[in-house]
Formats: sequence, structure tokens, C-alpha cells
Amino acid sequence: MKTLLFTLFALLSFTASVQADTSGEALFDAKCASCHIKVIPQDTSSLIAPPIIGVMRHVNMTYPSQKEAVKFISAYAMHPQVNKAVCQSQKIKRFGLMPSQKGNLSEEDLHSISVWLVKNYLSSPPKQTGSKSCNN
Ligand code: HEC
Repeated sequence: MKTLLFTLFALLSFTASVQADTSGEALFDAKCASCHIKVIPQDTSSLIAPPIIGVMRHVNMTYPSQKEAVKFISAYAMHPQVNKAVCQSQKIKRFGLMPSQKGNLSEEDLHSISVWLVKNYLSSPPKQTGSKSCNN
């Protein structure tokens, strides 16, 4: 019964309001995925921001600690800065600096998103690659 109630609640809160939902993934879909798509397309020319999988690979390389990674993502989304970026400057040249998400979502929601991103995408130990591009 408890499980059923929980499932019902989860379903209801998901469909009723994404804002009240504590699911990091639903929040990511609502707040970030319009720019950071989840799957790298064959044709990357229409991208308006680096796909999130590429972003997270670079977060992982710079911040192997999950705690630091969560902190970085939360801080960056509110205060994007060229000298804080983990992607190479060519990304900022191509897409422009990310617009601050301040006012677009609460610190709590952003924290849920960051935790979900780190849990979902970070591998340990980080995969090293030669390229410092966020697209692949
Ligand atoms: C309006 C489009 C847009 C939205 C919405 C957006 N981003 Fe971004 N984001 C960008 C662009 C463009 C870049 C690449 C340039 C840069 O690094 O600032 C970027 C880069 C990033 C980076 C990598 C920064 C780095 O080190 O270079 C992170 C992390 C990130 N975004 C997280 C988020 C999260 C989390 C959200 C949702 C709360 C979000 N973004 C919403 C456009 C967006």
C-alpha cells in the first residue's frame, strides 16, 4: 500500500507540476534541456549549446569529486563566467556564454538538478580524453 501510494504520488506530482517535483531529471528537462540536449545528434550544426553528456564529461575531468562537481554545476548555472568554464573557450566562442539561470529556478531545484546530473553522468574514475571539446 505504501509503495502504491508513493507511486501514485510520484505520478501525480510529475504530471501536475514539474516545478513542485523534486525529481532532478524532470527539472533538468524543464529548465536545461531546451539548450542542453541529452543525445548528441548526427548533425551538430543546429546545436545552441553543448549536449549535456559532453558537458558532464568535462565537469568530471575537472571535478572528479562528486561533491565538488555538484557545487560547480550549481554555481555555474547561476553565475556563468568565462574563467570558470570547464569547456574550452572555443565552446563559448561558438555558443556564447551561458545565460545566468538566476530567476529561472530556485537554488533548491538547481541543487536537485546538479545531484541528478552527477549521479547520472559522472563516472569514477573520470574518463580521460585527449580532446577538450564539449561536443563529443
Ligand atoms: C539558454 C540556453 C541554456 C540554458 C537554458 C542552460 N544552459 Fe548551460 N550552457 C549554455 C551554453 C551556451 C553553454 C556553453 C558556454 C558556456 O560554457 O558558458 C552552457 C554550458 C553549461 C555548463 C558547462 C560550463 C562550462 O564549464 O563550460 C554547465 C555545467 C551548464 N551549462 C549547466 C546548465 C544547467 C544545470 C542548466 C539548467 C539549470 C543549464 N545549463 C541551462 C546554455 C544554456
